[in-house]
Amino acid sequence: MTDFLEDARRVLAANDRGGYTVPTDRLYPFQWNWDSAFVAMGFATYDVPRAYRELERLIEGQWADGMIPHIVFHAPSDTYFPGADVWRTSHDIPTSGITQPPVFGMALKKVHDAAINSGLEDARGRSLVLYEAALRWHRWWYAARDPNATGLVALLHPWESGSDNSPAWDIALARVPTTTETIVMRKDIGHVHAAMRPRDVDYHRFIHLVDVYATCEWNPARQWSAAPFKVAEAQTTSILLKSGEALLDLAHQFGRTSDAKELEAFNRRSRRALLAQWRPHLRRFVSRDLISGTDIDAPTQACFCPLLALDLQPAIREAAIEEMELWSEGLTVLFPSTQPNYPGFEAKRYWRGPVWAIVNWLLIDGLRRNGAIEMAEKLRHSAVEAIERNGFAEYFDPLTGEGCGGLGFSWTAASYIVLSN
Ligand code: DGY
Repeated sequence: MTDFLEDARRVLAANDRGGYTVPTDRLYPFQWNWDSAFVAMGFATYDVPRAYRELERLIEGQWADGMIPHIVFHAPSDTYFPGADVWRTSHDIPTSGITQPPVFGMALKKVHDAAINSGLEDARGRSLVLYEAALRWHRWWYAARDPNATGLVALLHPWESGSDNSPAWDIALARVPTTTETIVMRKDIGHVHAAMRPRDVDYHRFIHLVDVYATCEWNPARQWSAAPFKVAEAQTTSILLKSGEALLDLAHQFGRTSDAKELEAFNRRSRRALLAQWRPHLRRFVSRDLISGTDIDAPTQACFCPLLALDLQPAIREAAIEEMELWSEGLTVLFPSTQPNYPGFEAKRYWRGPVWAIVNWLLIDGLRRNGAIEMAEKLRHSAVEAIERNGFAEYFDPLTGEGCGGLGFSWTAASYIVLSN
């Protein structure tokens, strides 16, 4: 094992808080939903029981309606805002009230396959419990976040995208008032330089949304009607579909015929809807602002995430890859979360330009699926090299390669474990 690989495992061990892994100390002191799914895939390569544990601890936070929240507050900490008291949710373990990209299904399949290959005792039993939780969550997505059965699922909060301050939300978020009932007491900028984080005005809007949904008592139908921010989103739908494919495979393995039919119908609907989001003149996929009824054409990493879950025709595939190559020209590290020539691009500000290793990971899977091995390798080398040069940072400046945000970051370590293989 290389020293870097050992270091990556050390990062995960240091962030272990008892069967779950915090993204990083202090800045993110609880269990985050999609972070844990990536971490579980990292563990699956060398410690399958621990990988199961990560997912099992996450579903302790699952709500009765099937939603798996974006944060599970297993143990108190005063280093993060907004803490459990701001969310005012009523699950027995304190949780946030919104969700996050459903990487869980993809992770479960990786963990299950690793468990079967290593002959782990009770793999089927452990996987089944997690499979059922995942299926309930997918049902929630299609019922609560796509009530009109369009096939694209909607986000009611930018935090649900995981790409909090992406330029993709600039227009939709500008409609959200900056007034809040909750006092905004940011802690993040005490841990990380403010220039690397969302702006204050974004935080006021983020918290305004939390207040609105808390007033709806987190009821999905009431939130859907009250939401001042509602985006049918390409990246989340792609991840949902990819996880839906993983769950379909598990449904067949477990002999769950009627689940398989249901998952096939979900997947078919999302596949068709995602394909319809391709815009030939832009050479990328777009999301949709459901409040204005218009396309969101800000150029972000989300525009290429459909590769993950679609087998594209050659003309679309080639156009998308050429566009990705154009965005990559002259950069030190690939792949940027915003096109570098776009006026909203900021090289160090969180999701407005920086490179995230987990984004590379998703895009690499999508490029491989679509036979674009050369581009996949470019992204893989770039992420691995950036980590070896600059450490397990939360994300990287695409112009200089500098590691930014939190350090000793779990999903960057998990990405290294998987991508350096
Ligand atoms: C944060 O607090 O920065 C998170 O991204 C929200 O989940």
